[in-house]
Amino acid sequence: MTTRINPSILAADFANLERELGRISSADLVHVDIMDNHFVPNLTFGLPMVERLQQVSPVPLDVHLMIDDPDRWAPGYAEAGAYSVTFHVEAAADPVALARRLREIGARAGIALKPGTEVEPYLELLPEFDQVLVMTVEPGFGGQSFMPETMPKLRRTADAVRRAGLDVWLQVDGGITADTIGIAAAAGADTFVAGSAVFGGEVPAERIAALREAVASHSHPVVGRTGSLDG
Ligand code: DX5
Ligand code: ZN
Repeated sequence: MTTRINPSILAADFANLERELGRISSADLVHVDIMDNHFVPNLTFGLPMVERLQQVSPVPLDVHLMIDDPDRWAPGYAEAGAYSVTFHVEAAADPVALARRLREIGARAGIALKPGTEVEPYLELLPEFDQVLVMTVEPGFGGQSFMPETMPKLRRTADAVRRAGLDVWLQVDGGITADTIGIAAAAGADTFVAGSAVFGGEVPAERIAALREAVASHSHPVVGRTGSLDG
């Protein structure tokens, strides 16, 4: 199984984003948090910023949309060239139609679930998605504590993906550190977003390496190969 480390630039220096992207070139993808101050009580940036990041980033973009009406706005991020576009199911009017549109444009399509959102209604739709993001904090802010109570849902999602023989990536986001990453890996996550744990260090690349080591040593022995997008 491949594992992926996706640093969140929410915790980066916004005045020097190109330099910050250069400091995480050993990452698998860059996680880009879009917040609209409606779906979540916080505001970041939007499409023009992502278009520019796409031009300068050495690693592909993993866009996490915490916005209302993703049916309207998400395709623009795929058109900008994002490698993956993940929207919240709680906000989408037609998650399947939207995922199909994103795939048609050429992006991987992801759905995100807040900690209180059950996954069961979406399990039969799994073939429509490339990624399920199980939020491990309430979306809206970096630097919060990992919520272990979200792990049973992650485990049920992983079981469903395995039973169906699908290649759906399972992402966790929020409070992921060298101490918590093993818990999420053991529950079935393969894609790990980390903001403060990466950019909080003097040398982000060392933090990425430490997360890779922690996930390899804590999780099931089949988790070995790192650093690749496929497989
Ligand atoms: C929170 C965002 C996260 C955030 C994670 O709503 O979706 O991506 O950047 O930050 P940390 O890793 O600091 O919890
Ligand atoms: Zn995020």
